[in-house]
Amino acid sequence: MNVKVNDSFEESSLAAADLIIETVKEKPDSMICFAAGSTPIRTFEILINKSKSSLIDFSNCTFVGLDEWIGMDKNDKGSCQETLYTSLFVPLNISSQNIHFFNTKSSNLRVECKKIDQIIANNGNIDLMLLGIGQNGHLGFNEPGVSFDSFSHVVNLSEVTKTVGQKYFEGSRELSMGITLGIRHILDAKCLIVLASGIKKNKAVYEMVHGKITNEWPVSILQTHKNCQAFLDKEAACLLNEAQ
Ligand code: F6R
Repeated sequence: MNVKVNDSFEESSLAAADLIIETVKEKPDSMICFAAGSTPIRTFEILINKSKSSLIDFSNCTFVGLDEWIGMDKNDKGSCQETLYTSLFVPLNISSQNIHFFNTKSSNLRVECKKIDQIIANNGNIDLMLLGIGQNGHLGFNEPGVSFDSFSHVVNLSEVTKTVGQKYFEGSRELSMGITLGIRHILDAKCLIVLASGIKKNKAVYEMVHGKITNEWPVSILQTHKNCQAFLDKEAACLLNEAQ
């Protein structure tokens, strides 16, 4: 893993956007998976501006959703899909044919998992993922204890994820289960970009960079990826210096 600590989150977001643009220029029909959540939003804004100046063209890319709260779709304000549609896909005018999400309202979620696994397998692997990290070290909804061999799966969310997740919604929401791509998809992706900002992420960042590789801290598995670039701000990275 390559780690870059920036003075500001803005610098990290600019660097992430540049790497995304470089990757898509090299492979205009890339399969891309962007995390939702708060962290990537500034990167999305930068990408939208670059797209307006014709510096990037996503029209031939395919997008796969990373995760979703069970029972929610793009009509639920604060869901992963709603976040990605509002902050990226709609402004970029991405064709719905090029967007693949889990249908969390399906009566058969195992079939949904297989459907998304197959879409990814048909492409080979995911070309590019932009990931955030949870305070508990989750990636997507790959929660502590997850198997490193997992593909798409339904998950009982950890208490941390249920509590922190309330920040995305206007009123209090019952959050108990999620659906997510697996660690295997992340490990098989050709290029990973990880963004982390703020003091609340410092422990997870420490485990990602220096921790023992253990499924108790899913982020720690990123140490084994050959092409993983992490962009951190000083607050998120503050425990790293102490470790050196
Ligand atoms: C969201 C996702 C989550 C978030 C993580 C960090 O699609 O996959 O793993 O990336 O919980 O969330 P934020 O960015 O809101 O701190």
